Amino acid sequence: MPDIVSIKIDNVEVRAPAGANLLQVARDNGFDIPGLCYHPKVSVTGACRLCIVKIAGRPGMVPACTVQATDGLVVTAFDEELESMRRMLIDLLLSEHNCDCMTCESAGNCELQDLAYRYSLDNRSRKFAARERVLPEPDTSSPVLAYDPSKCIVCARCIKGCEEVQGKGVLSFANRGLETIVTAGLGEWATSECDGCGECVQLCPTGAIIEKLPELPPRSWEVEKIQTTCSYCGVGCQLEMWVKDNKVIKVRGAEAVPNYGSTCIKGRFGHTYIDKFDRLTTPLIRRNGKLEPATWDEALSLVKENLLKIKQEHGPDAIAGLASANCTNEENYLFQKFMRASVGTNNVDHCARLCHA
Ligand code: SF4
Ligand code: SF4
Ligand code: SF4
Ligand code: FES
Repeated sequence: MPDIVSIKIDNVEVRAPAGANLLQVARDNGFDIPGLCYHPKVSVTGACRLCIVKIAGRPGMVPACTVQATDGLVVTAFDEELESMRRMLIDLLLSEHNCDCMTCESAGNCELQDLAYRYSLDNRSRKFAARERVLPEPDTSSPVLAYDPSKCIVCARCIKGCEEVQGKGVLSFANRGLETIVTAGLGEWATSECDGCGECVQLCPTGAIIEKLPELPPRSWEVEKIQTTCSYCGVGCQLEMWVKDNKVIKVRGAEAVPNYGSTCIKGRFGHTYIDKFDRLTTPLIRRNGKLEPATWDEALSLVKENLLKIKQEHGPDAIAGLASANCTNEENYLFQKFMRASVGTNNVDHCARLCHA
């Protein structure tokens, strides 16, 4: 089999690695085939059927995300029949969805909403009446996220992200048919093994799993999205900060190296300290039992004075240094050099041993 294969999509010849996912190949070549359950980070589910295409020589319509690229495939991505079927599938999804877009935090950042708009599925043109589902109340027990079953399209992206990307396997489906929901652990997020990494939030195509934020966030189109490097540790994850009025509202993982959207709990949720009124912004020196603001020169002189005093009185091994993962590798290198060469001790450690190991 050739390494690179040639495929025809809507009469356009495209080349792709043999075995590549057909939906991804089509999208990479500008064919905007819809699809809600597919995500390049997780294995194929083939649940939503929105990515249906026709393949010459095969009967009916097949979900493109379940097809591997082979030489000579002739694919129809768009025709009236396919588009009408996709429209019907979205209509069906909406018939069992709590279409609460007016007050939904995900409005403007929701793949289902985008598709409803793209296929002009307004209230009057929907063919399927809302279907009654008996669902539990939203699970808000996690300290960092909330799950609303009424906005869940049962695509499995969260379950697979938790299992395949994070290796945790906290989530699964519970119940059957219209009542199917995502459940954490034995039924409650708070008592599950969830560590709050937020991979499920990142991968959810709707507003079913969202961050728990300290205050009602602005609408998604009101924020400026700024890519930056997480400062919590040396991995250098790329973050997308959602900023309004110079305030970080929430954080999503940026789809870039090295993390491709994933983060740990601190990178994604530990940003509220930025605006905390009691955040330290200047060194403090304890004078007469009371911490008082000082300049960096004053603080560093005091540290130097006391380090020399301890070394003279008790020897260098009476001193230990704990470095921070907030610093760069180069800064940590300098720190251990300082401890070993200047202070004269090997008592040097790093907080990564506690929280990043
Ligand atoms: S999840 Fe999406 S479609 Fe559902 S209410 Fe929220 S914005 Fe609307
Ligand atoms: S936050 Fe992370 S660990 Fe918790 S359920 Fe979501 S993906 Fe799994
Ligand atoms: S919570 Fe979101 S990602 Fe998970 S199954 Fe429901 S819609 Fe899909
Ligand atoms: S994206 Fe292919 S079936 Fe859902």
